[in-house]
Amino acid sequence: MTEKLTLALSKGRILDQTLPLLSPLGIEPLEDPEESRNLVLPTTNASVRLIIVRATDVPTYVAYGGADLGVAGKDVLMEQGGHGLYEPVDLGIARCRLMVAGHPDVSLTGRRLRVATKFVNITRRYFADKGRQVDLIKLYGSMELAPLVGLSDLIVDLVDTGNTLRANGLEPLEHIADISSRLVVNKASMKLRHRELKPLIGRIAETANERA
Ligand code: ADP
Ligand code: PRP
Ligand code: MG
Repeated sequence: MTEKLTLALSKGRILDQTLPLLSPLGIEPLEDPEESRNLVLPTTNASVRLIIVRATDVPTYVAYGGADLGVAGKDVLMEQGGHGLYEPVDLGIARCRLMVAGHPDVSLTGRRLRVATKFVNITRRYFADKGRQVDLIKLYGSMELAPLVGLSDLIVDLVDTGNTLRANGLEPLEHIADISSRLVVNKASMKLRHRELKPLIGRIAETANERA
């Protein structure tokens, strides 16, 4: 028997929103991924297994062939560069926007601004393209806190409903990009396992389109 196709997903909204795209294809995990301690999960399709990794690790697993395919946020792909992967399908799930945010009365002129974010590469590029000099402060989460305690003037973060910003007295100020999750595929797998992958990718894309 050939090796199982391996699909990398992350717990939380990507898993929640990807499983409904897989179940019409007869692919359902045999254990509840949110409950199980197993990181490799067989599915109702004997030739497909899931692996559960961090959202930011999905591109790494797929690029290096630890998984044949995976689901990753466009924010993560933009930040990391998306090298060594195909990105054939916009799944239209986990939609949000990447925004600059801050206090509504923040003064954007004058001294050099400090921007806190986990998206340092995207942020550096965004301000450089605008010819604005900023100091970047790398954080790993809870960016909304930074302006409240004077760590930064601005943040770059994901915004969906805006509730998190509002709860912290912040407002979206500038739009950087619309974000959704993408199906990503290992380049070697795409060649070597094309016969299996092509129909699978096609059916996932169809289901995603129908639900969009
Ligand atoms: P993490 O633990 O890395 O924050 P998440 O499940 O929160 O993992 O995020 C995974 C992906 O979902 C992100 O890369 C982004 O594309 C998207 N996302 C993050 N936050 C939101 C949100 N509030 N609404 C919709 N999509 C989001
Ligand atoms: C994400 C993101 C924002 C929030 C935005 O956090 O980092 O904080 O959602 O969504 P909203 O505009 O609807 O409030 P998440 O819920 O993923 O929590 P996390 O800090 O665990 O990543
Ligand atoms: Mg999150």
